[in-house]
Amino acid sequence: MEVQGFRHWIKTMAMKRGPLVLALDYNIEDRMKLLQRSVEVVRDVAPYICGVKVNHQLLLPLGLYDGVKKIIGTAHDLGLPIIMDGKVNDVGSTNQAIVKHYFGVGFDAVIVNPFIGWEEGVEPIFAAARDRCGVILLVYMSHKGSVEGYGQQVVDPKSGEIRSQYSVFAERALTWGADGMIVGATYPEKIAEVSRIVGGKIPIYSPGVGTQGGDAHAALDAGASYLIVGRSIIEADNPTKVARELWSSSKR
Ligand code: XMP
Repeated sequence: MEVQGFRHWIKTMAMKRGPLVLALDYNIEDRMKLLQRSVEVVRDVAPYICGVKVNHQLLLPLGLYDGVKKIIGTAHDLGLPIIMDGKVNDVGSTNQAIVKHYFGVGFDAVIVNPFIGWEEGVEPIFAAARDRCGVILLVYMSHKGSVEGYGQQVVDPKSGEIRSQYSVFAERALTWGADGMIVGATYPEKIAEVSRIVGGKIPIYSPGVGTQGGDAHAALDAGASYLIVGRSIIEADNPTKVARELWSSSKR
């Protein structure tokens, strides 16, 4: 497969197959079945998604170099980029070691927590990503408690102004050259505000559609480029049908 940067790759796939990113969050006790089901659902819904996202629900039971590597291979064989939702959040040397494994095994992008700051924080992650891989920053998470962290008022250390934490993170995303920002579909007004702050220059990935109560259209209309959807699809009796319906209704 031709090597192309993550940001370009997922955009190209979204133009062909729509804005859905599948969150593969199965909770299946039997590890063999967990792997089989994950591979099957990626194959089944591939025509209706532009990417796949893996979280700790798979990483912990299946292991990075065993089961997860097979899922990465499946996604790539179907032309799909794959994101590790690691919410990386440690000191630089540890972050460097974490993303060395994620990118080394074949992940195309990683989700990172900007609370750790640039120097000795996210800087080594951006350095490791270089041109091939993507760095996606949390800006406003989809769950209710998000307001306590991402929504708090802070004194901007650079300007001394009182600002919302997420607006500072949106500006950081621009300064740092992030490939994406996460803003929950449960807060479409925040999607619109963050999109304005970055002038549409960084794509917004929006989780929280369906099970968490977010609305796909509201998120897209507010400025989201991608919708991250997990349980509404994977827990459905017929995941392909649900993915197709979401895909069809999210076409503009
Ligand atoms: P559901 O089942 O709710 O799954 O459709 C959503 C997926 O997205 C993850 N998630 C987030 N990831 N920032 C993230 O990086 C967020 O604000 C956020 N909210 C949900 C969740 O872990 C699951 O994989």
